[in-house]
Amino acid sequence: MESILITGGAGFIGSALVRLLLKKTGAHLLVADKLTYAGKPSNLPESSRITLAVADVCSREKMAALFRRFRPKLVFHLAAESHVDRSITSGTAFARTNVLGTAVLLECARQSWKKEAGVFVQVSTDEVYGSLPLAGGAFTEHSPLAPRSPYAAAKAGADLLALSYHATHGMDVRVTRCSNNYGPRQHGEKFLPTVTAALFAGQPAPVYGDGQNVRDWIFVEDHCTALWAAAQKGVPGQVYNIGARNEKSNLAMVEAVRQTLVLLGEHPPAPGQCVRLVQDRPGHDRRYAIDPSRAGRELGFCAQTPFEEGLKKTVAWEIERLKGEREKQKPDAL
Ligand SMILES: NC(=O)c1ccc[n+]([C@@H]2O[C@H](COP(=O)([O-])OP(=O)(O)OC[C@H]3O[C@@H](n4cnc5c(N)ncnc54)[C@H](O)[C@@H]3O)[C@@H](O)[C@H]2O)c1
Repeated sequence: MESILITGGAGFIGSALVRLLLKKTGAHLLVADKLTYAGKPSNLPESSRITLAVADVCSREKMAALFRRFRPKLVFHLAAESHVDRSITSGTAFARTNVLGTAVLLECARQSWKKEAGVFVQVSTDEVYGSLPLAGGAFTEHSPLAPRSPYAAAKAGADLLALSYHATHGMDVRVTRCSNNYGPRQHGEKFLPTVTAALFAGQPAPVYGDGQNVRDWIFVEDHCTALWAAAQKGVPGQVYNIGARNEKSNLAMVEAVRQTLVLLGEHPPAPGQCVRLVQDRPGHDRRYAIDPSRAGRELGFCAQTPFEEGLKKTVAWEIERLKGEREKQKPDAL
């Protein structure tokens, strides 16, 4: 049975991709994940077709051994340190995992694919393009790389390394740059889970600065569909921007979560009492917006999930998680 390697597959997007690949392929899915604070085996579905290798992508020895044993011909590289706030507190883990880890993986793929070529999908982010003004414009694949956080800078470094393996070694590398994802199983430290947890508890949600920062939101399953399309129909050496043309300010997102909680029978604070503005993040990018035209034209990709539907699934999943946590914290009944 052929193998597909998914690095970071025990994380938020990686585990959604594993679910999609179980449906779309008959392949064996090799998940290589260090299981940092962000990765959980319980994110993965039960299947005899999945092997979880607990391994650091920076370990040449371990990655080479996985390539020798499983001979994957398709790699989705998602393993990364992914939280911008953490990259501001300390950037070294970001340079290590996101840049060195990508270099190690590219090198192992190159060695393994000398006789029979494979496809390397470098899963990246719109944050490599930096920040847009609030008024108008969207990132295309021709936008200059202008990352402004250590997270984004490390991802940009990884993208350039990946593309250099195409130019220098002729490797089939495809880079995808996606906008902000929302969906089940996102780590609790990220914006939407934080907002949901606060409102679910009847508290206002902490929001940076004036709350007017804009992100372009896509449901995680749509992102994964685009990754699969890039692997199937993409062109070697090409970059694809992935997005759902769904821009929302942080304040608008809080209101959308409030409405969804009400819809699900919960009791968030009243409108106007849902936000607690806090000191802005240093270097906070004002706006991201993705022009996904190339992915539409060349990959046939178009995000399918209506925002309200995706948000309902996301918030419902978060509520279940939060209720589970509450249960665990209850003292044992006598
Ligand atoms: N979340 C988003 O909105 C978004 C948007 C665009 C692109 N991306 C990219 O998608 C990828 C996945 O993002 P996510 O939100 O699922 O992140 P996540 O933090 O939920 O998951 C990252 C996974 O990588 C693993 N990992 C971290 N360091 C590792 C290492 N050294 N070796 C092996 N595994 C390691 C973690 O254990 C975790 O399972 C990242 O590359 C990120 O840059 C994310």
